[in-house]
Amino acid sequence: MINAVRGTQDIFAQEAELWRYIEMQAVKIFEQAGFQEIRTPIFEDTALFARAVGDDSDIVSKEMYSFMDRGQRSITLRPEGTAGIMRAFIEKHMDRGSKPLKFWYSGPMFRYERPQSGRYRQFHQIGLEAIGSSSYLLDIEILLLALKLLDALGLKHSCRLCINSLGNDSSRKMFTQALREFLAPLQNSVCSDCQRRFHSNPLRALDCKVEADQYLYKNAPKIKNFFDEESAKIWNQIQQSLINLEIDFEVDESLVRGLDYYSHLVFEIKAENLGAQNTIIGGGRYDKLAESLGGNPSPAVGFALGLERLAALLTNLILSKKSIFIISDDSSAAQKLALQLRKDLDCIIEYDYENSKFKKQLEKAIRKPYAYAIFYLEEERRQNCFGLKDLKNNQDLGSQTYSELIAKLG
Ligand code: HAM
Repeated sequence: MINAVRGTQDIFAQEAELWRYIEMQAVKIFEQAGFQEIRTPIFEDTALFARAVGDDSDIVSKEMYSFMDRGQRSITLRPEGTAGIMRAFIEKHMDRGSKPLKFWYSGPMFRYERPQSGRYRQFHQIGLEAIGSSSYLLDIEILLLALKLLDALGLKHSCRLCINSLGNDSSRKMFTQALREFLAPLQNSVCSDCQRRFHSNPLRALDCKVEADQYLYKNAPKIKNFFDEESAKIWNQIQQSLINLEIDFEVDESLVRGLDYYSHLVFEIKAENLGAQNTIIGGGRYDKLAESLGGNPSPAVGFALGLERLAALLTNLILSKKSIFIISDDSSAAQKLALQLRKDLDCIIEYDYENSKFKKQLEKAIRKPYAYAIFYLEEERRQNCFGLKDLKNNQDLGSQTYSELIAKLG
């Protein structure tokens, strides 16, 4: 037997319906704010992710699904959406038009991570990217859209927003220097990942999940003490706007995010009751990504949410439409009735295709369970009426005319 590959899942029935519901809510909210859909390829040139996400990031150094194609090109299944969208933006010269360009996207991403609850090797993101403006108001807009979606899904009160700023390049350079000096004497005592990061990207050490390392980093220098005027101003504007808008947030000075393209604002939204993998949304500003990919300066900001994690918070949401099963001794008569009912009702309407015995059809209707059964047997057809039964409450609702039936089930 061939099973699904480790870290992948089949999504069907109610769960697929829930995903669609989340996506519909997201699209409604995002498009109202002028974001338009973009679909980029699922695989890209490996160099794109190495350059955009960072050679030394966990994603590029150990989590990418990369392979040589038949033309000996190194190809990678996209581990995230931002890099591909920026590649498309540059390639299609979209920076020539009016800015910012605002995109939403939805689709599968691939990372070779250790699978566990809430962490998969194929997972799905819905995201937003706004490219071409450095206004802090766009950062606020992005945050508000993330929060609005959570609110629409009834999750506002079970999530918390954590923010931090990584400042601009020159602030970060000075901070990195100070951090290196602080970390140097600790190198024999920290984990091997942190030892590697010390050389390539010491900032990432702050984000280390090893408790003993975190203890050693307690007195590490703080990035905000290295902010220049511009970085401090933007950081204050963002915090002040959130306060003015009465949005709850926490400043988490250890939040640096696992992708190297960020500057200024970084943020995560975490859910209570979701175990270890509780970050449902991650994002921030990436002002230098366009240039690092060979484009013109195009400051940008965005986020992505993990659909699996979000859906796990919504398992109690009842979405299903009313479902009705037609029981008949003549499947073609049942089909004709179903076609008419589907025109007149916004319900799920099914029937038996095989002229099965009455008892078998009734058992099926009860077992599924359907909410209602319509009896459409020879007797009903002769009298031009319909027997109706509420299966949930096991209650016979008697014989109905067609218009009575529509009124009752509509
Ligand atoms: P990220 O934090 O790597 O950011 O991923 C965003 C979200 O995707 C996470 O918060 C999580 O919910 C979900 N996620 C990530 N990895 C997995 C996994 N292995 N299994 C299940 N869910 C996962 C990015 O990808 C950035 N591109 C976000 C962004 C957009 N920044 C700016 N614009």
